[in-house]
Amino acid sequence: MISSFSSTMLIRSILKKQSSLSSYNNILRRNNYSSSSECVPPARKVVVLGAAGGIGQPLSLLMKLNPLVSMLSLYDIVGTPGVTSDLSHANTRSQVVGYMGEGNLGKALEGADLVIIPAGIPRKPGMTRDDLFNINAGIVKGLCTAIAKYCPHALVNIISNPVNSTVPIASEVFKKAGTYDERRLFGVTTLDVVRAKTFYAAKAQVPVSAVNVPVVGGHAGITILPLFSQATPKADSLSEEEITALTKRTQDGGTEVVEAKAGKGSATLSMAYAGALFADACLKGLNGVPDVVECSFVESNVTELPFFASKVRLGKNGVEEVLGLGPLSDNEKQGLEALIPELKSSIDKGIKFANQS
Ligand code: LAC
Repeated sequence: MISSFSSTMLIRSILKKQSSLSSYNNILRRNNYSSSSECVPPARKVVVLGAAGGIGQPLSLLMKLNPLVSMLSLYDIVGTPGVTSDLSHANTRSQVVGYMGEGNLGKALEGADLVIIPAGIPRKPGMTRDDLFNINAGIVKGLCTAIAKYCPHALVNIISNPVNSTVPIASEVFKKAGTYDERRLFGVTTLDVVRAKTFYAAKAQVPVSAVNVPVVGGHAGITILPLFSQATPKADSLSEEEITALTKRTQDGGTEVVEAKAGKGSATLSMAYAGALFADACLKGLNGVPDVVECSFVESNVTELPFFASKVRLGKNGVEEVLGLGPLSDNEKQGLEALIPELKSSIDKGIKFANQS
């Protein structure tokens, strides 16, 4: 028998469930999701620039698997028809269209909600990301000029290195074209977060799926600053030396892959994985999913630098809020101070390049 007290509690709990269910249905309706069991997300066009390359191919596959994508537009200067034909046979939601050569770039971009740019050349052993500047800076500049013309409102995810310079280049191109919206431009630093999580989980012996580690700063060497003091779940057993080693391994993660590939390029598979995770977060934000937070290199007031990677809340217009750094350990404070001059010079280099021609 149910007492009158517990029956009141039961009714209250049912009402509470109903109201949270109806607010959930409201969210679905607001975002054009059907509240039926089919739940079709809104139509979204995603463009991959450099889709036939080392990162571009696995990234395009992962975007083909993403149910939030309705149209997947692949662009490259060579090789797009083969990749497009191949991917188009996968029985997932999105339609795949391919465009080859600069003359078709506009058609590839028109109507885009999200443009992901892995285009450019990768590192060889002994090279820094900055050594790619001479070639990749021009490529990113050209692609962003076309984005400003054909899809000025799209979110732009830049993977092409050196990200610390290519993102400022993109911002200058968009400013000159009068289309710049700082909420829509992102440098993809998710691979740093992915690496920090993987290495931390192994060292702390915790399940990797439960791990969170913010990584701030930039995307090259010492500018990559993982904040292991904020890592969850906490692993008090890790010594200072172990944290220092994890920090160094995260900072050198890209170089570790470049050396292992011995002249055949840099990270492509893990980069594609990380790029796809970040693109998925951007799409969720666009669709109005609440509380989507990822680290990214964006325009920022968190430090004195105009661009900085930190946690960012994503929403219907891209960046909704750039979150602060939170409490840092002494070593992290030192790391932050040490990275500022290098990151500043990479940002300045990008801005100067964009404005000199
Ligand atoms: C890396 C490159 C792809 O971090 O930036 O491996």
